[in-house]
Amino acid sequence: MTEPYAGSLAEASSAAAAEGFLVAFEGGDGAGKSTQVRLLAATLEAAGRQVLVTRQPGGTPLGQQLRDLVLHGGPMSARAEALIFAADKAQHVDAVIRPALAAGQAVLTDRYTDSSVAYQGAGRSLGAVEVHELQMWAVDHLVPDLTVVVDVPADEGRRRRGAVHDRLEAEADDFHDAIRQHFLAMAAGHPDRYLVVDGTLAPEQIQAAVVDRVRSLGVLR
Ligand code: TYD
Repeated sequence: MTEPYAGSLAEASSAAAAEGFLVAFEGGDGAGKSTQVRLLAATLEAAGRQVLVTRQPGGTPLGQQLRDLVLHGGPMSARAEALIFAADKAQHVDAVIRPALAAGQAVLTDRYTDSSVAYQGAGRSLGAVEVHELQMWAVDHLVPDLTVVVDVPADEGRRRRGAVHDRLEAEADDFHDAIRQHFLAMAAGHPDRYLVVDGTLAPEQIQAAVVDRVRSLGVLR
């Protein structure tokens, strides 16, 4: 009679042994975020952490549909674009990120709310304060433990991207420069929650800085 209880208690305590945490990677298109997500995931896994790698937009089945619409659909108003990105995040946090954190996983997301504040708030000129509020509502105020901004100049990002792949990438360098400045300003405002890395350095050098900072969170021995 007592066995099922004993089993679930054992599971609960092993989940409690590792506390979940969320690291978001942000930056312009072509900055090299995805490489850094992959490298950090490998480091955390080697240290025995369970890792969930995910991305926005598109981290859920609904998100995949929203991603197709917002990146490859026809013309849309700036507010419609902001709402689609917000819907993607609402679903992603509710269905994927919060459950993974509750299970004690290390969650690494390629883009999060700051992308919308930068792209829709600054890039599309909707206003950073309004878009930030919309985003916080969408994710029910889930703030990352750490946000890594992988910083590259707009022209370097364009060079690395090569061919244009979606509606946002197709924008001019001015748009991408406004986004870059906005990421840097957000990071400067909260140095305790952000790490800015120079995306023009070698991937291994960037990774070393990221791992150092993640270690300071006390989640990696
Ligand atoms: P993606 O192919 O995921 O590009 P990347 O490898 O640069 O992350 O495309 C996502 C695009 O959507 C990218 O141009 C940034 C943009 N975006 C927003 O405009 N708002 C958002 O909230 C998010 C998450 C992304």
